[in-house]
Amino acid sequence: MERTFLAIKPDGVQRKLVGEIIRRFETKGFTLVGLKFMNVSRELAESHYGVHRERPFFASLVEFITSGPVVAMVWEGDGVIAGARKVIGATNPLTAEPGTIRGDFGANIGRNLIHGSDAPETAQSEIALWFKDEELVNWSPTIMGWIHE
Ligand code: RTP
Ligand code: MG
Repeated sequence: MERTFLAIKPDGVQRKLVGEIIRRFETKGFTLVGLKFMNVSRELAESHYGVHRERPFFASLVEFITSGPVVAMVWEGDGVIAGARKVIGATNPLTAEPGTIRGDFGANIGRNLIHGSDAPETAQSEIALWFKDEELVNWSPTIMGWIHE
């Protein structure tokens, strides 16, 4: 079963959107397998955003993600990597569709509330970066038959 890494960024936490955001992935039918509330070290932030190292917004990205606690999560489900990105919406909340998390709650690209892995390779490396194996819970919800044929 596919897994992805999602993180509610400091703006989502400060704005008390944690419950609302988690609810959207739960009701969609994805399964939570990892969850922790944590401060992000500069080292972790720089590794996580390593692909953006040369971009002009890299410093502010690292500054922001380390500015307050985040909710780090691993979610599981068929097609969850692309599916979660759909639930999240476009990078810029101003162009994100209404009905998506960023479209409904965001108004600025630097405050877009949540991160989601963008491909199978990044999902795998981000899960390994943020979680130890023993922090992930293997389980299957009993309602699975009502979510999947
Ligand atoms: P994320 O990685 O956070 O899920 O977002 P994303 O894939 O939709 O966007 P990505 O291109 O990976 O960019 C990572 C984060 O950098 C900030 N950003 N700022 N000022 C800018 O032009 C700009 N572009 C990107 C956003 O916070 C974005 O989520
Ligand atoms: Mg990205």
